[in-house]
Amino acid sequence: MSIVEVKIKAQKESSYPIIIEGGLLDNAVYHIKCFSNANKFLVVTNETVFPLYGDKLKSDDTHFIVLPDGEEYKTTEYLNKILDKALEIKLERKDAIVALGGGVIGDMAGFAAAIYQRGIDFIQIPTTLLAQVDSSVGGKVAVNHKLGKNMIGAFYQPKLVLSDINTLKTLDERQFKTGLSEVIKYAFIEKSCGAEKDYNLFDFLKNNRAEIYAKKPDVIAELIKICCELKAAVVNQDEKEKGLRAILNFGHTYAHAIENITEYKKYTHGEAVSIGMKLIFELAKKLNAVSEEYYNSAITLLKDYELITGLDFKPDKEAFYNAMKSDKKVSDSSINFVMPVDRFKVQIINNIDKNLVLAGI
Ligand SMILES: NC(=O)c1ccc[n+]([C@@H]2O[C@H](COP(=O)([O-])OP(=O)(O)OC[C@H]3O[C@@H](n4cnc5c(N)ncnc54)[C@H](O)[C@@H]3O)[C@@H](O)[C@H]2O)c1
Ligand SMILES: [Zn+2]
Repeated sequence: MSIVEVKIKAQKESSYPIIIEGGLLDNAVYHIKCFSNANKFLVVTNETVFPLYGDKLKSDDTHFIVLPDGEEYKTTEYLNKILDKALEIKLERKDAIVALGGGVIGDMAGFAAAIYQRGIDFIQIPTTLLAQVDSSVGGKVAVNHKLGKNMIGAFYQPKLVLSDINTLKTLDERQFKTGLSEVIKYAFIEKSCGAEKDYNLFDFLKNNRAEIYAKKPDVIAELIKICCELKAAVVNQDEKEKGLRAILNFGHTYAHAIENITEYKKYTHGEAVSIGMKLIFELAKKLNAVSEEYYNSAITLLKDYELITGLDFKPDKEAFYNAMKSDKKVSDSSINFVMPVDRFKVQIINNIDKNLVLAGI
């Protein structure tokens, strides 16, 4: 069993463990009860995950709300359905909401927990690789608005995260690769995360590709642990994204524009991020921010993992640039880039010439 302790410097009571192991769901109710004094638990899940893992959480104290599956349901309308259910079953302040699913369910259930009766206990059981390495760590919870993604939300830390790596066995390859994109992102920012230990994630990824694709349990558990340690180190220093936390958006300035102009339909988030990482490395090379050697090894890693590294159509450059500018991470109308500047180190850089930014598109 691996445990990552997430500490938030600014608020001591927000520390919580991420437990990573295969088979955790078999004793999920027991684990949850060790970390919460709740009498009642509302499990939020969806129509895909419930038939796979819902049974594992059934008990006299658990109630379920099963939502339709998809990002398009991550809305205030479905958030209200969670709140309605919580009121119907008379969930009280000491009770808890449990998210069982990927990032969509985690973000929505977490936001419901943050606002229901001004905040009740929240427990995450992430079941996608992306959720296990990224969205379940760090306490960002939200729903989408028709005018922007994740626009209505909060920072709300869970009491416990249970990452059962066995759930990854039922994940399809496309979703698994989507998570791998975020994993590879951590390799490129590792030395800027401020973690106490040197994990050398880049080499770990280079040396364990076959084992990772075979979902070998000890390798997957180690991989998830490293990513959680790196994200936890960043969040510890900057919970509310006042500075450092922005480095987690490596590759995302391009990715968000790609998702935006393709109306979130053509690519998964991870696919947009892998294309975005290739584009930012190209930009860095043009600006002489990285060596030819580092650039080549980074692109080789993306290709070895068979991640998508290019758009298969020519977008309108003006529309693409406007989408980059409308991203909520833009400050003072200048686009911020998380730029690779050395092996596994990044820096936030802005005011880059528009033609250079768009050269790789
Ligand atoms: N809060 C954060 O910090 C943060 C960070 C990154 C992403 N996100 C959010 O996360 C969401 C994306 O998360 P995601 O990639 O997990 O997508 P998702 O939640 O839509 O899950 C992807 C698909 O996999 C299915 N699924 C989940 N677990 C499964 C399993 N074990 N076996 C088979 N199928 C399974 C889901 O039903 C869905 O169809 C986005 O809404 C994004 O905004 C949040
Ligand atoms: Zn992302």
